[in-house]
Amino acid sequence: MIRLFHISDLHFGREDTRALDWVVQAVHDEAPDGVIITGDFTMRARAREFAAAARWIAALPVPVRIDPGNHDLPYFNPAERMIDPYRRFRALESAIARPLMLGGQATDELAIVRLPTTAAAQWRLNWSKGIAGAAALARALAEIDSLPPGMPAIVTCHHPLVEAGTQGRALTRGGNRALAELARRPVLAVLSGHVHDAFDLCHTTAAGPVRMIGAGTLSQRLRTTPPTFNDLTFADGVLSCRVCRLDGVPAEALGRYR
Ligand SMILES: [Fe+2]
Ligand SMILES: [Fe+2]
Repeated sequence: MIRLFHISDLHFGREDTRALDWVVQAVHDEAPDGVIITGDFTMRARAREFAAAARWIAALPVPVRIDPGNHDLPYFNPAERMIDPYRRFRALESAIARPLMLGGQATDELAIVRLPTTAAAQWRLNWSKGIAGAAALARALAEIDSLPPGMPAIVTCHHPLVEAGTQGRALTRGGNRALAELARRPVLAVLSGHVHDAFDLCHTTAAGPVRMIGAGTLSQRLRTTPPTFNDLTFADGVLSCRVCRLDGVPAEALGRYR
């Protein structure tokens, strides 16, 4: 059995301290095998926001795996955004003391494959929306196809590949094509964030169904629900997802690991 916590959209700069304390405590108490964070660590990719994100991740006593979100690309420095848009994210990723390395040689149970959906620039006005480009998709598919036969994979990205019925929208370009390709492979689910509300749905493609799971936010930028994270369990070939909500957690139960 593998148990993973899926969280997203921490947005340091407008973080929810109580929600972040809650997750740190849950990780200490429940000791999952790892934590997957599907992007938007900061508000404007400021150095102090990334530093706060790094400190928070360092407080997690389990392996961690992260993906970039659209808020994690330079906002105030257009030259850096064009020349090296992921420099700040890579620094955060390389600072993780215990990276989560599922798949390949690490385990024969489950693989985790990244499908980037962020871009430094796009041929549309709103660069915050998602794009599953052909090259990024090809790399993700090649990674899945190189796994041992039959090994199931979880795919991680920041934007939902198609709309998930949430108030927030992703408008991901190339998402339908990506989901159809993923449906042809042993993909358990596509994990994402960005829309700040949790969901768990089955999307139908011409090649078959694909499960899409979204994590809510741990920031003050709420949409329709309080802060949430997803508690994922993979056992006997079945992936289960339980959405954990911050509301209802008593105040005195929080803060033990601050
Ligand atoms: Fe976000
Ligand atoms: Fe986002």
